[in-house]
Amino acid sequence: MTPLPADAGSGGAPGSPPSTRRTSWRPPSSGLIRGCWQLARGHGPGWTRERALAVLDAAAAEPGRLRLDVADIYSGAESLIGAWRASRGLTDAELLVHTKFVPDLDALPRIDRRRVRAAAFRSRDRLGVETLELVQLHWWDLAVPGWVRTAEWLAELRAEGVIRHLGVTNLGRRELAALLDRGVPVATNQVQLSLLDRRPLAGLAALCRERGVALLCYGTLAGGLLAEGSAAVGSGVARRSAAATADILSEATGDSAGSRASRSRAKYRLIVEEVGGAGVLARAREALARVGSRRGVAAADVAAAYALAQEAVGAVIVGLSRRGLGVDPVAARLTPGDLAELEEAAPRTVTGGVYEIERDRNGPHGRIMRYDLNRAGEGVPGEGARPAGSGARSQPPGSDGRR
Ligand SMILES: NC(=O)c1ccc[n+]([C@@H]2O[C@H](COP(=O)([O-])OP(=O)(O)OC[C@H]3O[C@@H](n4cnc5c(N)ncnc54)[C@H](OP(=O)(O)O)[C@@H]3O)[C@@H](O)[C@H]2O)c1
Repeated sequence: MTPLPADAGSGGAPGSPPSTRRTSWRPPSSGLIRGCWQLARGHGPGWTRERALAVLDAAAAEPGRLRLDVADIYSGAESLIGAWRASRGLTDAELLVHTKFVPDLDALPRIDRRRVRAAAFRSRDRLGVETLELVQLHWWDLAVPGWVRTAEWLAELRAEGVIRHLGVTNLGRRELAALLDRGVPVATNQVQLSLLDRRPLAGLAALCRERGVALLCYGTLAGGLLAEGSAAVGSGVARRSAAATADILSEATGDSAGSRASRSRAKYRLIVEEVGGAGVLARAREALARVGSRRGVAAADVAAAYALAQEAVGAVIVGLSRRGLGVDPVAARLTPGDLAELEEAAPRTVTGGVYEIERDRNGPHGRIMRYDLNRAGEGVPGEGARPAGSGARSQPPGSDGRR
């Protein structure tokens, strides 16, 4: 377990009294946020600006206000969304964008107040908004001190109205409690939670419920691995076998023709291996399809609904794609019996703490991550044109070098 750095407070011992602290963040009634990692250049094959804009238009045409999840390190995506928002004249009533502050690993020791402010103003400029709706802090290595101070600097920006809500991502129970005990007004914690990865349910979710923090969940479809084949049940077509599921797994990393390889798929292929491989995935998919067939929805809906049904979960973040547009986590209306049936079919979950195996940079999960995407840069010249009128705000007020 990573020792908490000196600036991290007590760590919130089990049995701490529930706090009365609350933020005004409200989850979407659809339970759905659309994830824009899939819009980043380099995420997968076949990316074009036209395709990315077309899928954004299609998402905006769906009923209700669109919520997007992006990050400063999703190459080009903040600028793309900002230019798209401006060109379509979208307002906050139609679109809310959550972003992340993800400083590069090698920059962590140098993060100071000025750099935090500059990054927030850069995201604001790229997105072309007055106020950043939600900024979520990710810190690659919690053994490098500074993440608590950084969260406090972001909280200053919230107090100034630059940021409306403050979130974190991939924090476990102990680290989140440390921030809350310091009075940092954390509204959300974005974590992986799916039928295959139930790590947040071992303590973190209970803390979030007690302290009024919403979990925002990614990986609910395991990059699509938990969704495909859903038509097999109920249509008379034979279910895909574990062998066929293994073929889909190999597609996930581009080993076969017609590949759906992407960075997301590569990530979740490793998660499937953590819980037992293709056979386990096949049984999980069968159960999702079976429950979906009973409830009159697709397996992908059930997979998303499984996460949304868990304690303290405010929304699921489903990767933005044409196929993902139809996913509805509310439609399934899962019963306790449905949830038990799903867990019985997928009895193993990833072990360890939230994001623990991912933090091992020498392990299989850590080795496939990019830790330098800010330095690698957002820009291909001419792409992601800055939204009109945003340039005047690019100088962060208060960037006076104070730490
Ligand atoms: N904080 C973090 O560390 C972190 C990490 C990962 C992701 N995220 C966030 O979470 C978002 C979600 O991404 P994710 O990587 O976790 O992926 P995901 O939501 O588990 O899966 C999304 C993929 O599922 C496929 N899919 C959707 N509906 C389908 C259907 N009905 N049938 C078959 N396949 C379907 C699509 O693939 P196709 O493109 O092939 O259609 C889509 O790209 C990201 O965009 C990002 O915003 C955050």
